[in-house]
Amino acid sequence: MKKLAQCAAIISVLSLAACQDTTEPVAESTPSPRSDLTLPVSINAVMVGLIDNSADYIWAVGNGDMPKDDNDWDLVRSATYDMILGGTVSKIPGTGEFDAQWTAEENWQEMADELTKIGQDALPLAEAKSTDVEAWRQIGDRLIQNCESCHEAFKPEIPSEGILHRSTESESRGESIFD
Ligand code: HEC
Repeated sequence: MKKLAQCAAIISVLSLAACQDTTEPVAESTPSPRSDLTLPVSINAVMVGLIDNSADYIWAVGNGDMPKDDNDWDLVRSATYDMILGGTVSKIPGTGEFDAQWTAEENWQEMADELTKIGQDALPLAEAKSTDVEAWRQIGDRLIQNCESCHEAFKPEIPSEGILHRSTESESRGESIFD
């Protein structure tokens, strides 16, 4: 019985809220992004752990190293998501010494957005399992351009935290990334 009364009370509150809602702009009920959000790792770690590793798959396809089965295509599609998300993640400062300084720059934010855009343009190709090498090469060229322009503008000669990219053996021997 008590439960029923509670329900009735909740329902009446809800319907009251529903009536009042018509006067309130919708945006007010949407939480705004947290400006104090920070990453639990450094931007350098995002580069090495998320972006760099996955970019290799996109470059591989652009170089004609085509996926051999669905599992390989999953890796490529995943890599495009990593670009989409990696761009946005790099807009948020993490634990690196200069992260806050870098991410405060408009230039930085634009290049990070561009990385997301490149990933978004690559996703339909990955989903269609496109073997159009030229289309993939164009994505790869834009990607290199993006990494290099941001590194030229911001990357210190010796990366902070000493996390460095170690190229995979298959890359250096010119073997398929998918083996
Ligand atoms: C928005 C700017 C920005 C973009 C875009 C960007 N980087 Fe970086 N990257 C940096 C900065 C700054 C550092 C150095 C971080 C530090 O030292 O704390 C870095 C560091 C790295 C590192 C580790 C350091 C090293 O020399 O091994 C790798 C690897 C890397 N980036 C790869 C890439 C790749 C690959 C891309 C493109 C697919 C890319 N980055 C795109 C800013 C960027």
